[in-house]
Amino acid sequence: MSTDITIHRGLDGVVVDTTRISKVMPEINSLVYAGYPVQDLCECCHFEEVAWLMWHGELPTAKQLADFMALGRGQREISKDLLSVIQKSPRTAHPMDVLRTAVSFLGMEDTELDKTDAATNLKRSISMMAKIPTMIAAFYRLRKGQDFIPPRSDLGFVENFFNMIFGRVPAPEVVHAFEVSLILYAEHGFNASTFTARTVVSSLSDIYSGVVGGIASLKGPLHGGANEAVMHMLLEVGEPARAKEWMLTALREHRVVMGFGHRVYKNGDSRVPTMKKYMREMAKFTGNEKWLEIAEILETTMREQKNIHPNLDFPSGPAYYMMGFDIDMFTPFFVMARITGWTAHIMEQLADNRLIRPLSQYDGPAQRIVMPLKQRGI
Ligand code: COA
Repeated sequence: MSTDITIHRGLDGVVVDTTRISKVMPEINSLVYAGYPVQDLCECCHFEEVAWLMWHGELPTAKQLADFMALGRGQREISKDLLSVIQKSPRTAHPMDVLRTAVSFLGMEDTELDKTDAATNLKRSISMMAKIPTMIAAFYRLRKGQDFIPPRSDLGFVENFFNMIFGRVPAPEVVHAFEVSLILYAEHGFNASTFTARTVVSSLSDIYSGVVGGIASLKGPLHGGANEAVMHMLLEVGEPARAKEWMLTALREHRVVMGFGHRVYKNGDSRVPTMKKYMREMAKFTGNEKWLEIAEILETTMREQKNIHPNLDFPSGPAYYMMGFDIDMFTPFFVMARITGWTAHIMEQLADNRLIRPLSQYDGPAQRIVMPLKQRGI
């Protein structure tokens, strides 16, 4: 191998483009969306305002927000055909696979796919943000043999989602905790799924295909799938008294512990303190402190042993569990949020596109001769 080539496996540390959408600052444990600290957005904004911020680079005025919310509320319904695709999906399928298929189907329903201008792509982004919760809720209920609950346009984004899942709107504390998780999950620079989405559209493929690629990438346990894995881990630990020993054993066996570590943050994930606060609130609200206690012992032990910090999936997984959701729905919630970041990145990529096409260093056999069939006895 030539010695003057540096190979960046996993694109570790490589800056591939510029972006105006968000900035991750690991050195000061901070994350800003278009300049606004994410913690402040969580305390002061609705998720719809953050979606607008992703797409426009500014927070909306009161009038813009009201119009935008009305627009989204009117687009929550999915077609009968799409509902039937969801209904016919194997009940054993992972909801991320169903969602990937459903978004792909939505793309096929778009009769103007040849239109690729920014205004049309923005409309599609709004439509996907409005419909993805309906797709998730439909599968949630249909696979349990329960009736589909159609979306309601008189409810807020999160309230409507809870209603489509459980048939009721929970207490404001639960609604707020869920909304905060959506804001925290909305965007995070050139992470694997966002980069996948940008790569897909860099060949001038369509926005739905970019999102489908994003969903496919997010599903993996090293990325979005970690929030589910965290809850499975807490269930396996079972009791606070077992937590320390569980972690020591995992580390002794060199296992990757889900919900810990991050490619960019090495001294803690900027989103964790906010989500932890709401995880604690959910523990208090439900009167179930066990998962919180287990999580705290795991976190302390990991910090003492390896100085590795939890990432956002560590507090979000148990928070969703305490809200009453099935575990395999946690990563789809990430999609509900990240659809805003993905589509913002897709539009940013297309606004000044350059085909993403890196190089590789070949290390297979040296050039050789193909013998004719006869000589190989075929
Ligand atoms: N559990 C145990 N050890 C971990 C770890 C984890 N979750 N994350 C990192 N480490 C260890 C590595 O094994 C490595 O140890 P070593 O130096 O003794 O070999 C060291 O910490 C440095 O890790 P590094 O290789 O720099 O991390 P990365 O950038 O390649 O990996 C992740 C980042 C996210 C892939 C990794 O932390 C991980 O797999 N985490 C679990 C999955 C997860 O929670 N994903 C969601 C991310 S938001």
